Amino acid sequence: MAFAGASSLIIVPFDHWEYQIMKGPAGKAILRSEYKPYPWVVKGLKLKFDIGEAETLVSSEIQLKRKPGMDGDSSIELDGQDMALKSVWVDGRELSEDDYSLTSDKLVISDIPSECLLEIRNIIRPQKNTALEGLYPSGQFLLTQCEAEGFRKITYFPDRPDVMTRYEVTIEADKDRYPVLLSNGNAIESGESDNGRHWVRWDDPFHKPSYLFALVAGDLSHIEDTFTTMSGRKVQLRVYVEEENIDRCDYAMESLIRAMKWDEERFGLEYDLDIYNIVATNDFNMGAMENKSLNIFNSRCVLASPDTATDNDFLVVEGVIGHEYFHNWTGNRVTCRDWFQLTLKEGLTVFRDQEFTSDMQSRAVKRIQDARDLRSRQFPEDAGPMSHPIRPDKYVEINNFYTMTVYQKGAAVIRMVHTLLGEDGFQKGMKLYFERHDHQAVTCDDFIAAMADATGTDLGHFSEWYSQSGTPVVQVRAEFNQAARTYTLHMQQHTPPTHGQPQKKALMIPVKTGLIDGNGNELDLSRHGHGHGEENYSAVLILDRDSKTFVFEDMDEEPVPSLLRGFSAPVKLEYDYSDADLALLMAHDNDTFVRWEAAQLLASNAILAQRERISRGEDPVLPETLKTAVRSMLTDLQSDPALLGEALRLPGEDYLAELMEEVDVDGIHQACEFIRKSLAGSLEQEFRACYGRMKDGAAYSNSPEAIGRRCLGNVCLAYLTTRDSAGDLAQRQLESSDNMTDTLAAISALVYSGSDNATAALADFEARWRDNRLVMDKWFSIQAARPSADTVDCLDELMEHPSFSYTNPNKVRAVVGIFAMANPTGFHAAHGRGYEFVADQVIALDKLNPQLAARMASAFNSWKRYDKERRALMAKQLERIQAGSSLSPDVSEIVNNALSE
Ligand code: BES
Ligand code: ZN
Repeated sequence: MAFAGASSLIIVPFDHWEYQIMKGPAGKAILRSEYKPYPWVVKGLKLKFDIGEAETLVSSEIQLKRKPGMDGDSSIELDGQDMALKSVWVDGRELSEDDYSLTSDKLVISDIPSECLLEIRNIIRPQKNTALEGLYPSGQFLLTQCEAEGFRKITYFPDRPDVMTRYEVTIEADKDRYPVLLSNGNAIESGESDNGRHWVRWDDPFHKPSYLFALVAGDLSHIEDTFTTMSGRKVQLRVYVEEENIDRCDYAMESLIRAMKWDEERFGLEYDLDIYNIVATNDFNMGAMENKSLNIFNSRCVLASPDTATDNDFLVVEGVIGHEYFHNWTGNRVTCRDWFQLTLKEGLTVFRDQEFTSDMQSRAVKRIQDARDLRSRQFPEDAGPMSHPIRPDKYVEINNFYTMTVYQKGAAVIRMVHTLLGEDGFQKGMKLYFERHDHQAVTCDDFIAAMADATGTDLGHFSEWYSQSGTPVVQVRAEFNQAARTYTLHMQQHTPPTHGQPQKKALMIPVKTGLIDGNGNELDLSRHGHGHGEENYSAVLILDRDSKTFVFEDMDEEPVPSLLRGFSAPVKLEYDYSDADLALLMAHDNDTFVRWEAAQLLASNAILAQRERISRGEDPVLPETLKTAVRSMLTDLQSDPALLGEALRLPGEDYLAELMEEVDVDGIHQACEFIRKSLAGSLEQEFRACYGRMKDGAAYSNSPEAIGRRCLGNVCLAYLTTRDSAGDLAQRQLESSDNMTDTLAAISALVYSGSDNATAALADFEARWRDNRLVMDKWFSIQAARPSADTVDCLDELMEHPSFSYTNPNKVRAVVGIFAMANPTGFHAAHGRGYEFVADQVIALDKLNPQLAARMASAFNSWKRYDKERRALMAKQLERIQAGSSLSPDVSEIVNNALSE
């Protein structure tokens, strides 16, 4: 069955579907401790795809060789799901059904020679695939998504990341319907065949695991550019999109070029092929995928122009383009041994994309946004039923472990390594990591070993971060001894027990610390016993036991400690700051994270105190200290507007919920509203003046400065529109806006303030943008996020809108996801219809797209943290989902975990 490039297509008509489609397996837990190497080496793989109207014939030639020492067993086990096996050949001889066994997820061939050619033919039905995993349709084309275990829905193969081989891929399809045929590597041959069909052959010279395989076939347009690498290799860059989007890809291309240059300059890493393709699809479960030389992107992470994309959308495009590009080294050249090691590539690559964004935009703003994200989303995850270490020990469905923990906490752990080793040490470690492991599939321990060995550092204790789940709490107490002129910081740590991990150890926690005197000056710590003689305004204090004491000497007066600078560890810090301390830090700290955190603390203390008053039936009051602090920010003409905007933004209701023993959803919301409205009322002139300064009429630009001004301006707008007296402000901004950031801020302000203009604004927006999918996602989201107990009653109508589609994850996320995850007032409304709605969606979606259904189901994960009535209502919905017939392993793992004790 050697391919001649143009083998004939066998079309099996639908009603003659004579092969049983093998459906996926039942959920069974996989353990990290049970890892076994695969007994076979795959020396080469040739794949041929004959794409038809309803079916695709996949033919594979797998060159096998048993590993030395594995001679005991002459059988071979291949993964395969949801497809029809046509024939199996070994060294040119067709096997009979007695020679192999076929189950719903495995093909086991009982006796094959230790070195042989295995040829397999199977049929798949991509056009019927709604799970967006394997080969599936989107608009005018077919595409693949293989990570983590989608390749097994394409053909029978050892679908695990430690089996790496060289791929040669031939794609044949109708030339009119599928003019573009792409796969990994270089196009080496192409030709025409009968019946208006054509074919292209691709060769990827780099060995790769199956999860990095990709294929795209269909009608796509592209833009093109080139990049010359530091060693002079000229790389052809293309971004493929559907024709209607061709004028919105430039920013993605520019971002790619910036990413390629940055990785050379900061990490010394160069691209390794002559071609780099990016394909954008509307239908994608995730943000994007790093397939070797053929990245596939959710169109949300590619398309951007000022009229359709917000400032944040632009940042997402640049960040995700960077992220997938950076995987070429951290993920593709060196990959994961097994999926328990996922953070090896994801945590590290998120760290790299964070650094990229920090170098391209504002480091200070990026740090604050990442810290906010980690605290409001990863901390709750780590305190709930899905809590797991960044390197999990067990999973049922690996897709459920692409989590905030593996990604964001994983990146925070890498950042701590960077803090401990410094930039030079970290780069030495990276260099050794690539020297040792290029072209290998390795573990997190291998990464840590390279970092340790390259710098002569003992990271043994540090590596506990990979094994322990939960968020450590660091408590700090200060003591000033006038007579001895010493200032002592007593630090203690403990990690609360988490789901499945009751015992905790002390971790190695770097607490970056500074000291500030009463005049707001930073102390030079090298003169107080810390550091090595050079000027030193921050010390990295290592808390590596349950408790530890740090003494500063020769102190004239008691300073204010600036703790956890730069959010140096993913922990909860507890220190009893007075309002005066916080005011001092806000005004004088050189560390922008601590300055921001001081403002957040003032605000969250105020909100939580007012929530308590409300719950006791007392009238809430606006604390004078908060008012003073906000006034000083609004009148601050020196600081970066972007930082002021971040500091003025109230802490999220999800973060505040995280600070309470039992979450009081309505109380938190009311207290936030009260604080926002009273600040706007008592400082209206200051807010107006600041807003006016930010909206100075300058033409649109996407420089970090301009983004910062829009940010601060729109934060002011959100405050101001809580007052009736400022009702026309949002309307005027809407009418004069020349960009999506200001437009959306204005519409949100109108909708959330209950303005009479809201309905018209939404209708106008819909009329203007109804043909633009990504913009319509925003229109859906604004309405799904409206904080009100009756928002749930508008959702069915939203979902009947012609732009809505159940099979499109972006749409489902815009309505169901936003409602369930970003609208606590709506989702947790006491009547329980929010819960019922989301459960209905999970049940319906599970039949189409289990991965997406499982994400939506995880909205119930925090159910035990609410009051008795809500707990009962959520448990009822979880049980209703659980009781459903033929639940996917994806959803059942989430729901079973949530309901288990
Ligand atoms: N490898 C992932 C994409 C992926 C995840 C595919 C899970 C299949 C299953 C990719 O590199 C990634 O991490 N994408 C992120 C965006 C990134 C900027 C953090 C995503 O898709 O959200
Ligand atoms: Zn990634």
